[in-house]
Amino acid sequence: MTRYPPTGPIRWVISSGLFSSNPSDLPDPYPRAVKADTTAAYGKYITHSIAECNGCHTQRDISGAFTGAPFAGGGNVEGFVTPNLTPDSSGRIFNWSQQDFINRFRKGKLVPGSPMPWYSFGRMSDDELKAVYQYLRTLKPAKMPAVH
Ligand code: HEC
Repeated sequence: MTRYPPTGPIRWVISSGLFSSNPSDLPDPYPRAVKADTTAAYGKYITHSIAECNGCHTQRDISGAFTGAPFAGGGNVEGFVTPNLTPDSSGRIFNWSQQDFINRFRKGKLVPGSPMPWYSFGRMSDDELKAVYQYLRTLKPAKMPAVH
């Protein structure tokens, strides 16, 4: 007869997490739970863990390693140079209000051939976009690195 919950060695193996496939059991730095709200903390989660905005909006070298200031743009993606999203006065969204930011995502792709997945990202809710905007506003202002 099987007892539940298991005891002894079986219990230890299960609780060790070694064989767990549940991502919430993975060790840090993976967040165990994310609260969906309009804060910069949630925006950071969307931006880094889901949408990977930093992957295109940060300059990298040929091996893919990040070389530019985070989100300062200057990345070359399929021949398109990514704009600077940091709150620097030279940044593309420096003068954009939160509502301007949301409105831009509702418009979809405006630059023909742009590799940015505007239509998928445009399906984010207003609250999700608010969180992303709030997070981008917490970044260290930086100039776009020279494009090469
Ligand atoms: C696959 C690469 C890629 C990813 C991922 C990406 N972008 Fe972009 N993004 C670009 C490129 C290239 C441009 C310039 C061409 C354009 O405007 O479509 C751009 C432009 C922008 C602009 C300026 C639009 C304008 O009209 O001036 C904003 C704002 C922006 N991205 C925000 C984001 C945010 C926020 C994310 C994550 C949710 C993100 N991007 C993810 C490549 C990317």
